[in-house]
Amino acid sequence: MTILDNEQVKKKCQRFTPDETVIEMFEMAGFSSPRDIIGKKFLDNSFGTGNILAEAVERYIKACEQLGLLPADISEMLQRDIYGIELDEQLYSLCFARLDAIANKYHLPKVRWNLIHADALKWETNGKFDYIVGNPPYVAYREIDDENRKYLRENYKSCGRGKFDYCYAFIEKAIDLLSERGVLVQLVPNNIYKNVFAEDLRNMLRPHITRIDIFPAQKLFKDVLTSTSIFVYERSSQNEEVLCKDITSKRDYRIKRDSLIGKWMFREQAVNCRATCRFGDYFNASSSVATLLNEAFIITQSDKVSLNIEETLLRPAVSPKSKHFKRTEYIIFPYFYEEGRLCRIKPEIFEKKYPRATDYLKQFHDKLNARKADKNAQWYEYGRSQALQHLNQEKLLLSTVVTNTVEVYRIGAQEIPYTGIYIVPTKDKSIDLAEKVLKSKRFMDYIKEIGISVNGKSVRITCGDINNYEFEMEDPAWKN
Ligand SMILES: C[S@@+](CC[C@H](N)C(=O)[O-])C[C@H]1O[C@@H](n2cnc3c(N)ncnc32)[C@H](O)[C@@H]1O
Repeated sequence: MTILDNEQVKKKCQRFTPDETVIEMFEMAGFSSPRDIIGKKFLDNSFGTGNILAEAVERYIKACEQLGLLPADISEMLQRDIYGIELDEQLYSLCFARLDAIANKYHLPKVRWNLIHADALKWETNGKFDYIVGNPPYVAYREIDDENRKYLRENYKSCGRGKFDYCYAFIEKAIDLLSERGVLVQLVPNNIYKNVFAEDLRNMLRPHITRIDIFPAQKLFKDVLTSTSIFVYERSSQNEEVLCKDITSKRDYRIKRDSLIGKWMFREQAVNCRATCRFGDYFNASSSVATLLNEAFIITQSDKVSLNIEETLLRPAVSPKSKHFKRTEYIIFPYFYEEGRLCRIKPEIFEKKYPRATDYLKQFHDKLNARKADKNAQWYEYGRSQALQHLNQEKLLLSTVVTNTVEVYRIGAQEIPYTGIYIVPTKDKSIDLAEKVLKSKRFMDYIKEIGISVNGKSVRITCGDINNYEFEMEDPAWKN
């Protein structure tokens, strides 16, 4: 089975690189002067309709003409140096015809193109390439069939764990195929710099990546939500710094290669010398409660009246959305706190003391039992109890998806957050300080940088991102 047997995947991964981006990629590769082009081996290992190969061929021919080479020699050199691989037979033929047309335009004798119709990830060669320029297919893990998943996991280190993307293997393969002084330029999803499952891929890129162009608020492809980036990897480079160009805001950053650990950050980090501290050393950001069946546990104001569930079992339920839209909701809270400790209610007591809640929840009995709940959770309890321990105090709530500003809601001890991230102090620092830090412009800049783009406009953040944020405790801004 090939990845293109799934029509939806095929459609999604066949987005071809726009002309201006192709030109930009060639400039970044340095495939420009006769000296840089002639006699150098070039590869696009997923060439599609040939947007990249066509540009390579035109540049190659022009470079040869500049040096006055004969048409017959040029044809031979093209055949020797330009390579492409494509899995889709139709596109393969189309590109063949396209390259023939270019050769005709320059009155060259017939070229026996080195175009290969194959799965690039299974293609074997002893050859190495001086330039590999490409826009690999992006296919999310959930869309990769079992057979391909298994093959990638077993044959590509970058796909060894977790939910990898199909494009990781293309990048790894390209690194493998580079010559000693080879240059790799790839148009890739921006999330390869942040995604936890791309860590092995980042470890492969780190030693020789030299430039990363990001387009945080721009779309290179129409109708596609993935935000993209172009990187340059030069096998022979020993530079200690990586150039990062934010094309949208027209700013350049030089990032120390050594600082590219974990999720890669492309902005200058706190530059002044005042000591910084980690947010997670003073506060704790954690996920909201996971009932694993909100349709049973969350009830509206009118449900509350009609169901008449025992008042002592109800708490106000909050989510970033309900706060934003000022919606009143309740949550059935089958626990209580004693001296700050979370206590569970025994089944016989629950049923006796809360008959109306028991009757109501029994309607969901099958669904409640089908949850992938904690091992010792009772059928009427939440699927996960981890988040409950520190809830009974004043806290902050924010969404895992941030658009223009970080909306921080202050919620009371009684209120139970059921989506989003909640934050409580763990040491001697006040919740006011946490609120100011999270509402600061610098935190927003950090979020834009560290978050994973969801649709080009918003980013998704994790509790870890918040806990790892470094801020200046002595910043005068916190005193106001
Ligand atoms: C995003 S398109 C890029 C095409 C071209 N490089 C460009 O920039 O316009 C990716 C291409 O990879 C091809 N493809 C998908 N899986 C492949 C595989 N395993 N081997 C070779 N090509 C593959 C798709 O058919 C598609 O044409």
